[in-house]
Amino acid sequence: MTDQTDQVQRVAVVTGATSGIGLAVARLLAGQGHRVFIGARSAENVAATVKQLTDEGLDVDGAAVDVRDKAAIRTWIQTAVDRYGTLDVVVNNAGRSGGGVTADIADELWDDVIDTNLNSVFRVTREALTTGGMRDKNRGRIINIASTAGKQGVVLGAPYSASKHGVVGFTKALGNELAPTGITVNAVCPGYVETPMAQRVRQGYAAAYDTDEAAILEKFQAKIPLGRYSTPEEVAGLVGYLASDTAASITSQALNVCGGLGNF
Ligand SMILES: NC(=O)c1ccc[n+]([C@@H]2O[C@H](COP(=O)([O-])OP(=O)(O)OC[C@H]3O[C@@H](n4cnc5c(N)ncnc54)[C@H](OP(=O)(O)O)[C@@H]3O)[C@@H](O)[C@H]2O)c1
Repeated sequence: MTDQTDQVQRVAVVTGATSGIGLAVARLLAGQGHRVFIGARSAENVAATVKQLTDEGLDVDGAAVDVRDKAAIRTWIQTAVDRYGTLDVVVNNAGRSGGGVTADIADELWDDVIDTNLNSVFRVTREALTTGGMRDKNRGRIINIASTAGKQGVVLGAPYSASKHGVVGFTKALGNELAPTGITVNAVCPGYVETPMAQRVRQGYAAAYDTDEAAILEKFQAKIPLGRYSTPEEVAGLVGYLASDTAASITSQALNVCGGLGNF
């Protein structure tokens, strides 16, 4: 699938691209003709993913980054620019689950979920606009992977829901701010997507409700009008569309990919 309208290949960065949704996004953007620079904490997984995608004939490179670390983010964005040139597309995808009985949540868990899921989106975006050179261009795409939990409350998921509501709010504010510049800012809100994170979430609920993962899977699937989890590729499809030229008038939106789970 090619979406490039000129000869110059656009540059995209994707956080958390060694697994699940981020990996599908990196593969799809590269398939569209972007040069894709990926990041995640595990250097070993970044190297393995770069090799995997390069072996598929895609133009992908990457480096380790912890999106909770301001200095590491700066280095990572600079490395991406040195490798491929200034940025055209940023996908803030890295994230973690996290919750429990709210009265029992430790400060460390709360802070880590907010740092990983929300503060990172601001910091990576700021660095992409400055060090990444996006603010000097007349076209750009910032795409934040939020969640339907960023629009509705998730029981036993207060820190996660709070972080994702924050991502949606940040997206709407920055989208309005940057609209005159040609840079669009949107959130993609997955519902339940079959990834390693989804497996960990089911394990957590099975422990909290003293049941097994199969029972949790059945309970979750029953809530989804479509009757099944979405795939990472289905989420990536919307990211790819938002990155395209045709999506130039879509900004400040939070769009669900959720099999009907979310209604707004
Ligand atoms: N799966 C779902 O049902 C679902 C639903 C709604 C929203 N989402 C959102 O979609 C995004 C991706 O989720 P997923 O299900 O694909 O998760 P996943 O399979 O667990 O993958 C998470 C990715 O993020 C990276 N990562 C985690 N913490 C990081 C950090 N501090 N710095 C840099 N990279 C980090 C991981 O690599 P390392 O561990 O090596 O860092 C991995 O590459 C998340 O923002 C999540 O909240 C998922």
